[in-house]
Formats: sequence, structure tokens, C-alpha cells
Amino acid sequence: MAKLMSTHDIDKMRDAGRLAGETLRFAGGLVKPGVTTAAINDQVHAYITERGAYPSPLNYRGFPKSVCTSVNDVICHGIPSEKQVLQEGDIINIDVTVTLNGYFGDTSRTFFVGPNESISEERRKVTTVAEESLARAICVLHHGCRVGDIGHAIQTYAEAQDCSVVRDFVGHGIGKSFHLDPPIAHFGAPRTGAKLMRGMCFTVEPMINAGSWRHKMLSDGWTALTIDGKASAQFEHTFTLRGDGVEVLTALADDPIVQRARELGASLVE
Ligand code: MF3
Ligand code: CO
Ligand code: CO
Repeated sequence: MAKLMSTHDIDKMRDAGRLAGETLRFAGGLVKPGVTTAAINDQVHAYITERGAYPSPLNYRGFPKSVCTSVNDVICHGIPSEKQVLQEGDIINIDVTVTLNGYFGDTSRTFFVGPNESISEERRKVTTVAEESLARAICVLHHGCRVGDIGHAIQTYAEAQDCSVVRDFVGHGIGKSFHLDPPIAHFGAPRTGAKLMRGMCFTVEPMINAGSWRHKMLSDGWTALTIDGKASAQFEHTFTLRGDGVEVLTALADDPIVQRARELGASLVE
């Protein structure tokens, strides 16, 4: 179980979270037509290591690269490749995790490759729905909330938009390890599941599909694709509960998801 962390630990989580957020912003700046996902990987790797941190995915359970890059119908855990050249009209989730002084920060977002008008309606919609679903999840985060409250907020919104919620990959506790209990499903019933308490750190990272929520696994053992080839998008932040509210450890000052959550009435603490 994600243990209750001391204020010293939370300070360290804040440092790791900030670096993850800054790295993700840097990575987003690299996204453009003609760039390979391997080039993004290599620059992200350098950015993280130059700042005294470690790119957590590298060698994690055998993952071969430093960041996950999931394009179009890839749900998650896409492996950067020299052979994968970004094209105008693609969408790409970049999932950055760093280990700084032994603490983990984990954040991702889906970016458009090229101008908005070049992105198909299906890809644009699934991206918008995934982003809004994370903002809505933030609104239910407070001391004593339950994992099912998070899943319910995401599922009711996404399904009302005729999208589906991936079942087989979930958020997680995080701290001095990458993945801790409790698992945080992005679907579920209100007032059910584990209680989240002040001092816990965890991620929420909804993967939203335009079609079926089911996936198939590539033979590389990592890349999870939608079963029907339709688009998938994901956004992720790392959180801690403090006082009666929530702090977004991986958000930079101008984070649009946090701004949206604030508009919707989330109990955000700095
Ligand atoms: N960053 C992913 C998550 O949000 C996990 C990636 S594991 C890896 O939990 F090995 F694929 F990097
Ligand atoms: Co995560
Ligand atoms: Co992640």
C-alpha cells in the first residue's frame, strides 16, 4: 500500500514531480512531423540524466527505452523506434517517469503532430475527452475519497461522450517505487474501493479509446494497441492529498488540466 509519506518525503516527491513535468514540457516541444520517436527518447534521456535523475522506464521489467511513446491506436507502453517517423495528423502520448534522489514522478500527455486542423475528428475527440476526464477526476480527490469515486468520475464522463475506458491498465500508488498499491482503476462505482488518505501519493492516468476498450499486445510484449485500430489518448499526473485538498505534484504553473479542474471546483492546494 502507498504508505503515508512524511513532509520530508513529500518535499522529495515535489522535486521529482516538478522534474517530470518539466521533462514532459521539453518532450512536447520536440513533437513535429519528421521526428522519430527514437530521437524524442534520446533527447528526453539526456534531459533527465543531465539533471541528476534517472529515466525510470529504462530497464524497468526489461523495458528497453527511457520513455514511452504511444502513437494513434497505441494505448500505452509504446517503445520509441528509429523506424517510427511522426507524421502530420498523428497523436502521440509521451509518458515521462523520472527517479530523482530515490523518489518517482510520473506524468504524460497526448500531443498533436502538426496543426489542429490536420488531426482527424476521432483523434481530436479522444484526446479532448481523455484530458477532460482527468480534470474531472481531480475534482473528486480529497482526504478520505475512494478509488471508485475516481473511476466513476472518469467513466461516466467518457462514456457519455461515446468513448470507452481502458480496463487493463490503471493508475497506481507511487513514492520510492514506481508502482505501488492501490491500483487506481479509471472505471468503477462511487463510494467503493480503497480509501485515499492525506500523505498518500498516487497517479491517475485515464486511457480513453474512440472504440472498444479492449487491447491486443504486440509481440514485443509491451506495446498495447486498441483491438479495433481506433484512436486512444491518455493524460497522467502524480498527486498527493494534503489538508482537505489535492496537490498535483507533476503540474507546472500553467497546466491546462489543473486550470480546468480549478474551474470545475477542485480542492487544489499549492
Ligand atoms: N509510466 C507508465 C505508468 O504510468 C509505466 C511505464 S512502465 C514502462 O505507470 F516500463 F513501460 F516504462
Ligand atoms: Co503511472
Ligand atoms: Co506514466
